[in-house]
Amino acid sequence: MRSLDDYRNATEQSLLPMLRSLGEIPDRLREAMEYSLMAGGKRIRPSLLLAACETAGGDTRMAMPFACALEMIHTYSLIHDDLPALDNDDLRRGKPTSHMIFGEDMAILAGDGLLNAAAELMAGAALRLDDLQGFHAMEIIMRHAGVTGMIAGQTMDVISEGGTPREDLVEYIHSHKTADLLEAAMEAGLALAGANRDQIAAGREYGYHLGMAFQMTDDLLDVIGDVKMMGKKPGMDEGKMTWVALRGIADTEKDAREEIDRANEAISRLPWNTALFQEFARSLIDRHL
Ligand code: IPE
Ligand code: IPE
Ligand code: MG
Ligand code: MG
Ligand code: MG
Repeated sequence: MRSLDDYRNATEQSLLPMLRSLGEIPDRLREAMEYSLMAGGKRIRPSLLLAACETAGGDTRMAMPFACALEMIHTYSLIHDDLPALDNDDLRRGKPTSHMIFGEDMAILAGDGLLNAAAELMAGAALRLDDLQGFHAMEIIMRHAGVTGMIAGQTMDVISEGGTPREDLVEYIHSHKTADLLEAAMEAGLALAGANRDQIAAGREYGYHLGMAFQMTDDLLDVIGDVKMMGKKPGMDEGKMTWVALRGIADTEKDAREEIDRANEAISRLPWNTALFQEFARSLIDRHL
Protein backbone atom coordinates (compact mmCIF):
# COMPACT_ATOMS: atom_id res chain seq x y z
CA MET A 1 0.00 0.00 0.00
CA ARG A 2 1.27 3.45 -0.88
CA SER A 3 1.44 6.28 1.66
CA LEU A 4 -0.55 9.50 1.61
CA ASP A 5 2.71 11.28 0.67
CA ASP A 6 2.95 9.16 -2.48
CA TYR A 7 -0.56 10.18 -3.48
CA ARG A 8 0.27 13.82 -2.71
CA ASN A 9 3.36 13.70 -4.94
CA ALA A 10 1.42 12.09 -7.76
CA THR A 11 -1.24 14.83 -7.48
CA GLU A 12 1.41 17.55 -7.39
CA GLN A 13 2.88 16.31 -10.66
CA SER A 14 -0.47 16.04 -12.42
CA LEU A 15 -2.16 19.33 -11.54
CA LEU A 16 -0.48 21.59 -14.11
CA PRO A 17 -0.57 19.11 -17.01
CA MET A 18 -4.30 18.55 -16.31
CA LEU A 19 -5.02 22.29 -16.29
CA ARG A 20 -2.97 22.87 -19.44
CA SER A 21 -4.66 19.97 -21.22
CA LEU A 22 -7.78 22.15 -21.43
CA GLY A 23 -6.20 24.42 -24.05
CA GLU A 24 -5.11 28.03 -24.28
CA ILE A 25 -6.12 30.25 -21.36
CA PRO A 26 -5.54 34.05 -21.43
CA ASP A 27 -2.16 34.71 -19.75
CA ARG A 28 -3.46 36.80 -16.86
CA LEU A 29 -6.17 34.27 -16.01
CA ARG A 30 -3.82 31.31 -16.33
CA GLU A 31 -1.21 32.99 -14.10
CA ALA A 32 -3.82 33.69 -11.42
CA MET A 33 -5.22 30.15 -11.55
CA GLU A 34 -1.77 28.55 -11.45
CA TYR A 35 -0.54 30.90 -8.71
CA SER A 36 -3.10 29.60 -6.22
CA LEU A 37 -3.26 26.04 -7.47
CA MET A 38 0.52 25.55 -7.26
CA ALA A 39 1.06 27.49 -4.00
CA GLY A 40 1.58 24.24 -2.11
CA GLY A 41 -1.45 23.16 -0.15
CA LYS A 42 -1.49 19.90 1.79
CA ARG A 43 -3.46 18.16 -1.04
CA ILE A 44 -5.49 16.19 1.48
CA ARG A 45 -8.61 15.82 -0.65
CA PRO A 46 -7.04 14.48 -3.86
CA SER A 47 -4.71 12.24 -1.85
CA LEU A 48 -7.67 10.70 -0.01
CA LEU A 49 -9.56 10.25 -3.28
CA LEU A 50 -6.64 8.38 -4.85
CA ALA A 51 -6.07 6.33 -1.70
CA ALA A 52 -9.76 5.37 -1.50
CA CYS A 53 -9.77 4.36 -5.15
CA GLU A 54 -6.64 2.22 -4.89
CA THR A 55 -7.69 0.69 -1.58
CA ALA A 56 -10.87 -0.55 -3.24
CA GLY A 57 -8.92 -2.03 -6.14
CA GLY A 58 -9.23 0.86 -8.62
CA ASP A 59 -6.64 2.42 -10.94
CA THR A 60 -5.19 5.76 -9.76
CA ARG A 61 -4.36 6.89 -13.32
CA MET A 62 -8.04 6.72 -14.20
CA ALA A 63 -8.87 8.55 -10.95
CA MET A 64 -6.32 11.36 -11.38
CA PRO A 65 -8.53 13.82 -13.35
CA PHE A 66 -11.13 13.55 -10.57
CA ALA A 67 -8.48 14.03 -7.86
CA CYS A 68 -7.10 17.11 -9.62
CA ALA A 69 -10.60 18.46 -10.21
CA LEU A 70 -11.38 18.16 -6.50
CA GLU A 71 -8.21 20.08 -5.62
CA MET A 72 -9.15 22.77 -8.18
CA ILE A 73 -12.57 23.13 -6.55
CA HIS A 74 -10.97 23.31 -3.09
CA THR A 75 -8.49 25.95 -4.34
CA TYR A 76 -11.27 28.05 -5.90
CA SER A 77 -13.15 27.87 -2.58
CA LEU A 78 -10.07 29.24 -0.79
CA ILE A 79 -9.54 32.09 -3.31
CA HIS A 80 -13.15 33.20 -2.88
CA ASP A 81 -13.09 32.55 0.91
CA ASP A 82 -10.16 35.00 1.22
CA LEU A 83 -11.82 37.83 -0.73
CA PRO A 84 -12.48 41.10 1.14
CA ALA A 85 -16.23 40.45 0.87
CA LEU A 86 -15.83 37.12 2.68
CA ASP A 87 -12.99 36.52 5.18
CA ASN A 88 -10.71 39.31 3.93
CA ASP A 89 -7.44 37.42 4.34
CA ASP A 90 -4.13 38.52 2.86
CA LEU A 91 -2.05 35.36 3.39
CA ARG A 92 -2.77 31.83 2.10
CA ARG A 93 -0.50 28.85 1.65
CA GLY A 94 2.40 31.05 2.78
CA LYS A 95 1.86 33.60 0.02
CA PRO A 96 -0.19 36.77 -0.50
CA THR A 97 -3.78 35.86 -1.40
CA SER A 98 -4.92 35.96 -5.02
CA HIS A 99 -6.70 39.32 -4.79
CA MET A 100 -3.59 40.92 -3.21
CA ILE A 101 -1.53 39.98 -6.26
CA PHE A 102 -3.99 39.98 -9.14
CA GLY A 103 -6.79 42.23 -7.87
CA GLU A 104 -10.32 41.26 -6.85
CA ASP A 105 -11.55 41.04 -10.44
CA MET A 106 -8.98 38.43 -11.42
CA ALA A 107 -9.30 36.57 -8.10
CA ILE A 108 -13.02 36.13 -8.72
CA LEU A 109 -12.38 35.00 -12.29
CA ALA A 110 -9.53 32.66 -11.28
CA GLY A 111 -11.96 31.00 -8.83
CA ASP A 112 -14.62 30.76 -11.53
CA GLY A 113 -11.99 29.36 -13.89
CA LEU A 114 -10.85 26.64 -11.49
CA LEU A 115 -14.42 25.55 -10.80
CA ASN A 116 -15.24 25.31 -14.48
CA ALA A 117 -11.93 23.64 -15.30
CA ALA A 118 -12.76 20.99 -12.72
CA ALA A 119 -16.13 20.24 -14.31
CA GLU A 120 -14.59 20.14 -17.81
CA LEU A 121 -11.85 17.76 -16.69
CA MET A 122 -14.25 15.38 -14.99
CA ALA A 123 -16.78 15.35 -17.83
CA GLY A 124 -13.99 14.73 -20.35
CA ALA A 125 -12.51 11.92 -18.27
CA ALA A 126 -15.94 10.36 -17.67
CA LEU A 127 -16.67 10.32 -21.41
CA ARG A 128 -13.50 8.31 -22.00
CA LEU A 129 -14.56 5.53 -19.62
CA ASP A 130 -16.63 2.56 -20.74
CA ASP A 131 -19.15 2.67 -17.91
CA LEU A 132 -20.85 5.30 -15.76
CA GLN A 133 -18.41 5.30 -12.80
CA GLY A 134 -16.82 8.55 -13.99
CA PHE A 135 -20.15 10.34 -14.12
CA HIS A 136 -21.03 8.88 -10.72
CA ALA A 137 -17.82 10.36 -9.28
CA MET A 138 -18.48 13.70 -11.00
CA GLU A 139 -22.02 13.83 -9.60
CA ILE A 140 -20.69 13.10 -6.10
CA ILE A 141 -18.04 15.82 -6.31
CA MET A 142 -20.27 18.53 -7.84
CA ARG A 143 -23.05 17.81 -5.33
CA HIS A 144 -20.77 18.01 -2.30
CA ALA A 145 -19.18 21.19 -3.67
CA GLY A 146 -22.53 22.71 -4.53
CA VAL A 147 -25.50 24.62 -3.20
CA THR A 148 -26.50 21.88 -0.74
CA GLY A 149 -22.85 21.27 0.17
CA MET A 150 -19.76 23.45 0.45
CA ILE A 151 -21.42 26.59 -0.92
CA ALA A 152 -24.31 26.12 1.54
CA GLY A 153 -21.81 25.90 4.40
CA GLN A 154 -19.95 28.99 3.24
CA THR A 155 -23.25 30.86 2.98
CA MET A 156 -24.24 30.06 6.56
CA ASP A 157 -20.70 30.85 7.76
CA VAL A 158 -20.89 34.29 6.17
CA ILE A 159 -24.42 35.22 7.25
CA SER A 160 -23.98 33.90 10.81
CA GLU A 161 -21.04 36.19 11.52
CA GLY A 162 -21.49 38.20 14.71
CA GLY A 163 -24.26 35.94 16.04
CA THR A 164 -24.25 33.85 19.21
CA PRO A 165 -22.90 30.37 18.36
CA ARG A 166 -25.50 27.60 18.40
CA GLU A 167 -24.44 23.98 18.23
CA ASP A 168 -26.82 22.99 15.41
CA LEU A 169 -25.69 25.94 13.32
CA VAL A 170 -21.94 25.45 13.87
CA GLU A 171 -22.39 21.75 13.09
CA TYR A 172 -24.21 22.70 9.86
CA ILE A 173 -21.46 25.14 8.86
CA HIS A 174 -18.62 22.70 9.57
CA SER A 175 -20.31 19.73 7.99
CA HIS A 176 -20.95 21.61 4.77
CA LYS A 177 -18.13 24.10 4.31
CA THR A 178 -15.47 21.50 5.20
CA ALA A 179 -16.69 17.92 5.67
CA ASP A 180 -18.52 17.87 2.33
CA LEU A 181 -15.32 17.97 0.24
CA LEU A 182 -13.76 15.24 2.39
CA GLU A 183 -16.87 13.09 1.99
CA ALA A 184 -16.62 13.77 -1.76
CA ALA A 185 -13.00 12.57 -1.80
CA MET A 186 -13.84 9.27 -0.12
CA GLU A 187 -17.09 8.59 -1.96
CA ALA A 188 -15.74 9.50 -5.40
CA GLY A 189 -12.58 7.44 -4.95
CA LEU A 190 -14.61 4.41 -3.88
CA ALA A 191 -17.20 4.91 -6.63
CA LEU A 192 -14.47 5.05 -9.28
CA ALA A 193 -13.22 1.67 -8.07
CA GLY A 194 -16.73 0.22 -8.32
CA ALA A 195 -17.31 -0.11 -4.57
CA ASN A 196 -20.84 -0.98 -3.44
CA ARG A 197 -23.35 1.28 -1.68
CA ASP A 198 -22.49 0.17 1.86
CA GLN A 199 -18.79 0.69 1.22
CA ILE A 200 -19.41 4.16 -0.23
CA ALA A 201 -21.59 4.96 2.80
CA ALA A 202 -18.76 3.93 5.15
CA GLY A 203 -16.41 6.21 3.18
CA ARG A 204 -18.86 9.08 3.47
CA GLU A 205 -19.18 8.59 7.22
CA TYR A 206 -15.40 8.61 7.60
CA GLY A 207 -15.23 11.80 5.50
CA TYR A 208 -17.94 13.46 7.58
CA HIS A 209 -16.29 12.81 10.95
CA LEU A 210 -12.82 13.54 9.56
CA GLY A 211 -14.16 16.84 8.18
CA MET A 212 -15.74 17.80 11.50
CA ALA A 213 -12.45 17.07 13.30
CA PHE A 214 -10.52 18.90 10.59
CA GLN A 215 -12.58 22.10 10.91
CA MET A 216 -12.52 21.88 14.72
CA THR A 217 -8.72 21.82 14.59
CA ASP A 218 -8.75 24.60 11.95
CA ASP A 219 -10.77 26.72 14.40
CA LEU A 220 -8.32 25.79 17.19
CA LEU A 221 -5.33 26.74 15.05
CA ASP A 222 -6.88 30.15 14.46
CA VAL A 223 -6.46 30.65 18.21
CA ILE A 224 -3.27 28.75 19.04
CA GLY A 225 -1.60 28.24 15.65
CA ASP A 226 1.56 29.70 14.18
CA VAL A 227 1.53 31.76 10.98
CA LYS A 228 4.82 30.27 9.71
CA MET A 229 3.60 26.70 10.09
CA MET A 230 0.11 27.30 8.74
CA GLY A 231 0.89 29.71 5.91
CA LYS A 232 -2.20 31.70 6.91
CA LYS A 233 -2.73 34.20 9.70
CA PRO A 234 -4.25 33.11 13.01
CA GLY A 235 -6.66 35.42 14.85
CA MET A 236 -8.89 35.97 11.81
CA ASP A 237 -12.01 34.24 13.17
CA GLU A 238 -13.11 37.12 15.41
CA GLY A 239 -16.93 37.13 15.39
CA LYS A 240 -17.14 33.86 13.43
CA MET A 241 -19.28 30.92 14.50
CA THR A 242 -16.41 28.56 15.23
CA TRP A 243 -16.28 25.42 17.37
CA VAL A 244 -13.94 27.23 19.77
CA ALA A 245 -16.43 30.09 20.12
CA LEU A 246 -19.08 27.48 20.93
CA ARG A 247 -17.15 25.14 23.22
CA GLY A 248 -13.84 26.69 24.24
CA ILE A 249 -10.37 25.26 23.59
CA ALA A 250 -10.34 22.20 25.89
CA ASP A 251 -13.74 20.88 24.79
CA THR A 252 -12.93 21.50 21.13
CA GLU A 253 -9.87 19.25 21.52
CA LYS A 254 -12.02 16.62 23.23
CA ASP A 255 -14.75 16.83 20.58
CA ALA A 256 -12.17 16.55 17.77
CA ARG A 257 -10.80 13.35 19.35
CA GLU A 258 -14.29 11.90 19.49
CA GLU A 259 -14.88 12.73 15.83
CA ILE A 260 -11.59 11.02 14.94
CA ASP A 261 -12.68 7.88 16.80
CA ARG A 262 -16.01 7.93 14.95
CA ALA A 263 -14.22 8.38 11.62
CA ASN A 264 -12.04 5.37 12.34
CA GLU A 265 -14.98 3.24 13.44
CA ALA A 266 -16.69 3.99 10.13
CA ILE A 267 -13.68 3.31 7.91
CA SER A 268 -12.91 0.04 9.66
CA ARG A 269 -16.18 -1.31 8.20
CA LEU A 270 -14.45 -1.50 4.81
CA PRO A 271 -13.20 -4.99 3.94
CA TRP A 272 -9.71 -3.74 2.98
CA ASN A 273 -6.61 -2.50 4.80
CA THR A 274 -7.60 0.94 6.10
CA ALA A 275 -4.46 1.70 8.15
CA LEU A 276 -3.60 4.74 6.00
CA PHE A 277 -6.98 6.35 6.69
CA GLN A 278 -6.85 5.57 10.40
CA GLU A 279 -3.35 6.97 10.73
CA PHE A 280 -4.30 10.12 8.85
CA ALA A 281 -7.33 10.69 11.10
CA ARG A 282 -5.20 10.23 14.22
CA SER A 283 -2.58 12.67 12.87
CA LEU A 284 -5.18 15.46 13.06
CA ILE A 285 -4.95 15.39 16.86
CA ASP A 286 -1.68 17.24 16.79
CA ARG A 287 -1.76 18.98 13.45
CA HIS A 288 0.06 22.30 13.16
CA LEU A 289 -0.78 23.24 9.56
C1 IPE B 1 -8.36 25.01 4.44
O1 IPE B 1 -8.17 23.71 3.99
C2 IPE B 1 -9.83 25.32 4.45
C3 IPE B 1 -10.56 24.50 5.41
C4 IPE B 1 -11.54 23.73 5.05
C5 IPE B 1 -10.25 24.59 6.82
P1 IPE B 1 -6.73 23.02 4.08
O2 IPE B 1 -6.19 23.17 5.46
O3 IPE B 1 -6.81 21.65 3.53
O4 IPE B 1 -5.88 23.97 3.10
P2 IPE B 1 -4.64 23.64 2.15
O5 IPE B 1 -5.22 23.03 0.91
O6 IPE B 1 -3.69 22.73 2.85
O7 IPE B 1 -4.05 25.01 1.85
C1 IPE C 1 -13.08 27.77 4.72
O1 IPE C 1 -13.18 27.79 6.10
C2 IPE C 1 -13.78 26.64 4.11
C3 IPE C 1 -13.82 26.80 2.65
C4 IPE C 1 -13.03 27.56 1.95
C5 IPE C 1 -14.81 26.03 1.93
P1 IPE C 1 -12.23 28.86 6.83
O2 IPE C 1 -12.57 30.25 6.42
O3 IPE C 1 -12.19 28.54 8.28
O4 IPE C 1 -10.82 28.46 6.18
P2 IPE C 1 -9.46 29.24 6.41
O5 IPE C 1 -9.22 29.29 7.90
O6 IPE C 1 -9.64 30.61 5.81
O7 IPE C 1 -8.46 28.39 5.71
MG1 MG D 1 -14.26 31.24 5.74
MG1 MG E 1 -11.22 31.79 5.75
MG1 MG F 1 -10.38 28.76 9.45
